[in-house]
Amino acid sequence: MSRACAADKDHATTPLQKGSYDVQAIRKRFPALRRMENGMPVAFLDGPGGSQVVDTAIEAMANYLLRGSANVHGVFSTSVETDELILRARAAMADFIGGRPDEVAFGANMTTLNFALARAMARDWREGDEVVVTEMDHRANVDPWISAIEDRGGTVSWIKVDRERLTLDLSDLDSLIGPRTKVVAVGLASNVTGTVNDVRTIADAAHSVGACVVVDAVHAAPHIFIDRDALGADAILFSPYKVFGPHLGVLSIKADLYDRLKTYKVLPQLDWRPDKIETGTLNHEGIAGAEAAVKFIASLGEGETTRDKIRSAMEKIEEHENPLAEWVRERLRAIPGFTVYAAPDDVRKTPTIAWRVRGMDPRDVCLHALKKAIYIASGDFYATTLATILGIRASGSWVRAGIAPYTTREEVELLVESMEELAV
Ligand SMILES: Cc1ncc(COP(=O)(O)O)c(C=O)c1O
Repeated sequence: MSRACAADKDHATTPLQKGSYDVQAIRKRFPALRRMENGMPVAFLDGPGGSQVVDTAIEAMANYLLRGSANVHGVFSTSVETDELILRARAAMADFIGGRPDEVAFGANMTTLNFALARAMARDWREGDEVVVTEMDHRANVDPWISAIEDRGGTVSWIKVDRERLTLDLSDLDSLIGPRTKVVAVGLASNVTGTVNDVRTIADAAHSVGACVVVDAVHAAPHIFIDRDALGADAILFSPYKVFGPHLGVLSIKADLYDRLKTYKVLPQLDWRPDKIETGTLNHEGIAGAEAAVKFIASLGEGETTRDKIRSAMEKIEEHENPLAEWVRERLRAIPGFTVYAAPDDVRKTPTIAWRVRGMDPRDVCLHALKKAIYIASGDFYATTLATILGIRASGSWVRAGIAPYTTREEVELLVESMEELAV
């Protein structure tokens, strides 16, 4: 039997013991980290574009297919198992971001789910209604709302970015959000600067006028513990492929909003939540992988419930990642010709580092890093508005590196060493 088929059991060793962080034990769980390039081990610092996948998620996907794939709601074993898998996975997603299992929908990716949500919500909108988006967000939480409101003859308002601080400017929130506001769409963390936004304050302002809040947690999800309801989100989205799992999207909608939604669906599709937004056959093997990825995270923490374990694991991950990121930012800032794009120290951030090198195309910076088998990426990362207002989009936007639970001190030292060679 193949290795993939053999390991359905829980992995016996948990890489994190209380108060410790064994990065080498974590690394053993990610087969892709064995990859070599030109005789050198690859340093995967491209996590914000997609994390590597934990072994149990790979095995769960393979096992789903090896044991017999099926469609749902049948009488035979593989179909029953598929139904059970989807139910378990919905529960795992709810453990991960809060809310209830029957509020969790799966889809191709975050962007596709957000378009489906926006189109469904907009069915009740009228001319003159408004949506509010932010200058900081990935366009996946901007364009679905702009398209939907434009279809209804409504208008768009923007929460601005404070250009100096690289945080959202919430000073004129009350004038931006008004009685005609239907949705305020905001990211939990910037996928470029890592700025963690004050979503709760925005949500309170939105709710005070009866607007809904849609939170893009894609970038935040691998780095910070998420509580949908504490954030004040009516809907929240993330993508398991950024969180050690496969390519998939997850959307959690609060039941009262979910029940009101008139989703676009085919007639025979179930009419109730969560199925009513899930068009077509789901990615069952991906769902199996996503469940396993959440279980892996839980296995890193301690506590009574799975959710407690996830909270504790995310705290440990933050403790590992943030000092590494802070060290890299400091070192890059010290290199002549380098500009690091980050909010001030007092602002919470994910371990995501964005920079530019004077006179260099960001892509060439990545190519230079590649000589040491360091994988980092360049571009606007669909945070197009932010790149435009900062005046850097035409010249290639940013270079970006991300720290993951499997990132080592040696890898970030190598990155800094490589960047020091580019001092201007
Ligand atoms: C912050 C953020 N939001 C949304 C997305 C889009 O996610 P997906 O690829 O699942 O559509 C990304 C992907 O990079 C992202 O970083």
